[in-house]
Amino acid sequence: MIATAVLAAAACAAGLLTAGTGTVQAAARPGVPAPETAWTGVPAPETAPPGVPVPETSWTELSGLSETWSKASKALLEPMVAAAEGARGRPVDCRRAKCVALTFDDGPGRYTDALLRQLAAYRAQATFFVVGQNVAAYPGILRRTVAAGHEIGNHTWSHADLTRLSAAGVRAQLARADQMIKAVTGMVPRLVRPPYGAMNAAVRRQTSRPMVMWSVDTLDWLHRDSARVTRKAVKSVRPGSVILFHDIHPTTVRAMPQVLKALSKRGYKFVTVSRLFGGNPPRLVYSGAGPGVL
Ligand code: NI
Repeated sequence: MIATAVLAAAACAAGLLTAGTGTVQAAARPGVPAPETAWTGVPAPETAPPGVPVPETSWTELSGLSETWSKASKALLEPMVAAAEGARGRPVDCRRAKCVALTFDDGPGRYTDALLRQLAAYRAQATFFVVGQNVAAYPGILRRTVAAGHEIGNHTWSHADLTRLSAAGVRAQLARADQMIKAVTGMVPRLVRPPYGAMNAAVRRQTSRPMVMWSVDTLDWLHRDSARVTRKAVKSVRPGSVILFHDIHPTTVRAMPQVLKALSKRGYKFVTVSRLFGGNPPRLVYSGAGPGVL
């Protein structure tokens, strides 16, 4: 029965997100108030999104996707972000400190909350490149991520290979993810990371935002081995590294306490991608050798 209910919720979420009119379909469940305004202006993706993950959130949470609600989210989250920043004191200056940017792609997912707790234990800031569909499935997790002061980047709506899409298709993938992130957090991400790192000049022309690649690839998605992920991250890190992880794999999240501990011991400060570049990341971030290096 529980499985049926969850699947029904997933179907609702899918219906909500793929509604051709772009309006929120709120009539499906009795007793749930309709959002105040229709959610419009979100372009449909070029291809039908593949299976939307099973949401852990309630219909009520998903049905709040409106501009009104987006503003409320921002009003709620901004003081929390400021408090999180205040608690950490002065921002790290990566021209002096040994900084590393831990980046987590493809979430939010069911292991992200555990990761947030691990990061908090080390007062570590990270950057999450989220997939729009997964934001729709786990809006509460994204809000907690933002409230903890982490940075959010756009990783497209459905994890599309942008080099295979038309210019309009690329823009739609980014815009739809932006809209969802804004609806949930009240904020639009400043950074973009193309899925698979697949990018070309045509893709880059579709956004003026920094395209953030990485300098250390842990290959965590391939090996699914915590010890191996830890070894790779710790061995390859240099001041200014941008390390690529995926928080949708439990093996990665289980590796993080060791990664955080080992890098802390070596004097690394864990900062967001924007902080790594003094708040002003360049248009293309490869970051092999340090801040400011493309
Ligand atoms: Ni990805």
